[in-house]
Amino acid sequence: MTELRVLVVTGSVRKPSYTTALATAVGARLSTDNAKVAWWDLAEQPVPIADPAFHRAPENHPDLAVRRLVKLTDAADAIVLASPLYHNSFSGVLKNALDCLSMRQFQHKPVGLASHGRQRSTQAVDQLRTVVRGLRGVSTTTPLCTMDSDYLPAVNGGEPCLVAPDIVERLERFVTELLDLAAALRPLRTGTVARTRAERVQ
Ligand SMILES: Cc1cc2nc3c(=O)[nH]c(=O)nc-3n(C[C@H](O)[C@H](O)[C@H](O)COP(=O)(O)O)c2cc1C
Repeated sequence: MTELRVLVVTGSVRKPSYTTALATAVGARLSTDNAKVAWWDLAEQPVPIADPAFHRAPENHPDLAVRRLVKLTDAADAIVLASPLYHNSFSGVLKNALDCLSMRQFQHKPVGLASHGRQRSTQAVDQLRTVVRGLRGVSTTTPLCTMDSDYLPAVNGGEPCLVAPDIVERLERFVTELLDLAAALRPLRTGTVARTRAERVQ
C-alpha cells in the first residue's frame, strides 16, 4: 500500500497556541508511522467567509486558498481537526473552514478530533463529531483533549511542548486508530468495495 496521507487542520489564531502544539505532536507521531502529513494552519492560511454558492462545488471557488484547501482535503486519506475550546464549543474559524468544504471531501474518511481548553473538556470534540457526521466523515473514537498543565510552557517564541504521560499514551491510540481506519476505508473510497458490492447484487 502507498503511504497514507493525513491533513492536519488547526483552528486557533493565537500565537503561541496550545492547539497548534497539540496538532504538532499529532503530526510528529503520524510521521513516525510513515504517514505523509499535510498542514493547514488557519492562523497562517485563512480562508474567506464561506460562500454557500459553492456549497456543492467548492473546487470552483474563486479564492485560491479555498481551492488549495479543497485539493489537500480531497487528497487526504484521513483528517485531523484541532481546535481551541471556545464558549463550550470549537472555534468559529474552524467551522468556517469546514463550511468551505463539502461532503465529497469527507465521505468514508476517518477524522481524528483534538482540542485544548482550560480543562480537558470534550465539549469541542463532541460538537465537532456532529459536524463531521454532517459531512459524512467517520470520526474516530479516541479524541485528544488537553489543558495548559499538559505542556511545558513555550520558550523563545516557540510552541508549548506536550508532556503529560497519559495524553502522550493516548496519542498512540489516537494515531493507531486513525491510520488503521484510513487503510481500511481507502478501498471504499477508491471503488474496490463498491465494485464487489455491485458484483454481489448481480
Ligand atoms: C472566545 C473564547 C472563548 C473561550 N471559551 C472557553 C470555554 O468555554 N471553556 C474553556 O475552558 N476555555 C475557554 N477559552 C479559553 C481557551 O480555550 C484557551 O485560551 C485555550 O488556550 C485556547 O487555545 P490556544 O492556545 O490554541 O489558542 C476561551 C477563549 C476564548 C478566546
